[in-house]
Amino acid sequence: MKPYEKIIVALDVENEKAALALVKKLKGKAGVFKVGKELFTAAGPGIVKKIQKLGGKVFLDLKFHDIPNTVGKAVAQAVKLGVYMMTIHASGGLEMMQAAVAAAQENAPKGKMPLLLAVTVLTSLDDDALKKIGFSEGAEQMVLRLAKMAQEAGMGGIVSSPKELKMLRKVLGPSMILVTPGIRPAWSAAGDQKRITTPAQAVRDGCNFMVIGRPITAHKNPAEAASLIAKEISA
Ligand code: C5P
Repeated sequence: MKPYEKIIVALDVENEKAALALVKKLKGKAGVFKVGKELFTAAGPGIVKKIQKLGGKVFLDLKFHDIPNTVGKAVAQAVKLGVYMMTIHASGGLEMMQAAVAAAQENAPKGKMPLLLAVTVLTSLDDDALKKIGFSEGAEQMVLRLAKMAQEAGMGGIVSSPKELKMLRKVLGPSMILVTPGIRPAWSAAGDQKRITTPAQAVRDGCNFMVIGRPITAHKNPAEAASLIAKEISA
């Protein structure tokens, strides 16, 4: 895998035009493009095909969470769109994740099984917030437990904060894919991200892909920003 292929650019924009402009600028500079709830809701599933037509792989970050039957059917549709990776909430339970895995296997063209990623605990929730919901275990324990459950269900990887990378790599072994947001090269602003790490450190800690938004998308030259990050990864 080339260093730039580890870069997932978060297309956190409000319409198709802005998204496709970024994809064009970043051709050959980033491996994957993340379509999240904002862009998907605004532009519809056609955006996935349009990104693919420009040569980009798509990370569909819709964080599915519902009854197993519904999630399985939604995953089947995402697989038919040909997404490269997608997210599912581990807190939907073992059976829900198993339904997702089965639906992906049934619907994926041969050799094109998408990477199913589990979201464990949202980084916006701390121990206090979790307690208010009714989870008394604490964030770190919960992340570990849900990550192991995702592995048991046959999910391909985990979305994890930079701070959890080392622990997850140790517990889950080498084959689970770890995808990490909260990445900031030394030259960029942290913005609202609090627990950040550099691209080089993330790779050292066991990260396979990094989700990067504003350091690339808000840069005056996104292609140059992505190249600098790829250089940092390879160093
Ligand atoms: O612009 P920035 O690099 O902060 O964007 C990071 C991307 O990763 C955004 O799309 C954000 O929603 C996503 N993300 C995150 N932290 C998480 C999970 C997802 O920043 N814990």
